Amino acid sequence: MPKLIKKIGVLTSGGDSPGMNAAIRAVVRTCAYHNIQCVGIYRGYQGMIEGDFKEMGPRSVNNTINKGGTILKSARSKEFMTIEGRKKAYEQLVKAAIDAFVVIGGDGSFTGAEIFNKEFKFPVMGIPGTIDNDIFGTTHTLGYDTALNTVVECIDKIRDTASSHNRLFFVEVMGRDAGHIALNAGIGAGAEEILIPEQDLGLERLLESLKKSKTSGKSSSIVVIAEGDKIGKNVFELKDYVEANLPEYEVRVSVLGHMQRGGPPSCFDRVLASRLGVKAVESLLDGKSNYMVGILNGKVELTPLLKAIKGHTEIDRELLRVSEIMSI
Ligand code: F6P
Repeated sequence: MPKLIKKIGVLTSGGDSPGMNAAIRAVVRTCAYHNIQCVGIYRGYQGMIEGDFKEMGPRSVNNTINKGGTILKSARSKEFMTIEGRKKAYEQLVKAAIDAFVVIGGDGSFTGAEIFNKEFKFPVMGIPGTIDNDIFGTTHTLGYDTALNTVVECIDKIRDTASSHNRLFFVEVMGRDAGHIALNAGIGAGAEEILIPEQDLGLERLLESLKKSKTSGKSSSIVVIAEGDKIGKNVFELKDYVEANLPEYEVRVSVLGHMQRGGPPSCFDRVLASRLGVKAVESLLDGKSNYMVGILNGKVELTPLLKAIKGHTEIDRELLRVSEIMSI
């Protein structure tokens, strides 16, 4: 018989992403709806180790659904990677009478939760929050949709200059080792070429494609480059390389950086966060533990944390074909 859950902790961990606040709000309010207590754990696992807790009622999350970042702050805790650190965290949770926690974060945060669950038989539930969309068991992570919209909006603006000055722009986007942001935002923004880690087209193919686009009558171009791409040159080296080999091009570089992680969440991310938050709490109350809640085929589903961590998210190969056809 699982222990009755009367108090749930909630934390955000790893890189922040738009929609984290909406998920915290959903967890807090679902707890209130079921008449159980909710405790905010500040600064991720580091705050757990230090007992940085605050009770949260439904009014404590007023006016947060529209805010980027995380009101609970976030951190990447080195101490939690050690057994000593996790033992301290466990003692703090017991002291505060917290029976289970929901962690909103990426695979590093889930790895911590999974180990913690095994070591202390402590109920945990994960909500995928990262702009990278690199978590198995969900077609969308929180913040991904917002990041795509941010990138498209930025490239629309860059395109004005590209077109006015007949320039080629290399736009570097985030995504760590995954090309989801680059591929989808690249198609959405009408990029000429999209370089992603999952498919190394090589430098020759890039030059060929750029030559072709000049001769086809295009006067300006946008190339979207994922930060983890495998072409073997960073975005600035790539600019030099292309200018050296294709002097007809005037190239500029734009690294979008952390602006992709900020800003108000899109409606999609707010709704997703609300659905995942409800499911995370209700699953814990149903006695389930060590899962991640995600969205698959439009339905909220549970995936074992270990599978979410170890599984691989494939990019949609059909999108590569679409991109190639669109850049004719
Ligand atoms: O995982 C989210 C992410 O923004 C990645 O896209 C990026 O590689 C990384 O975090 C940047 O991390 P930091 O904010 O620690 O520089």
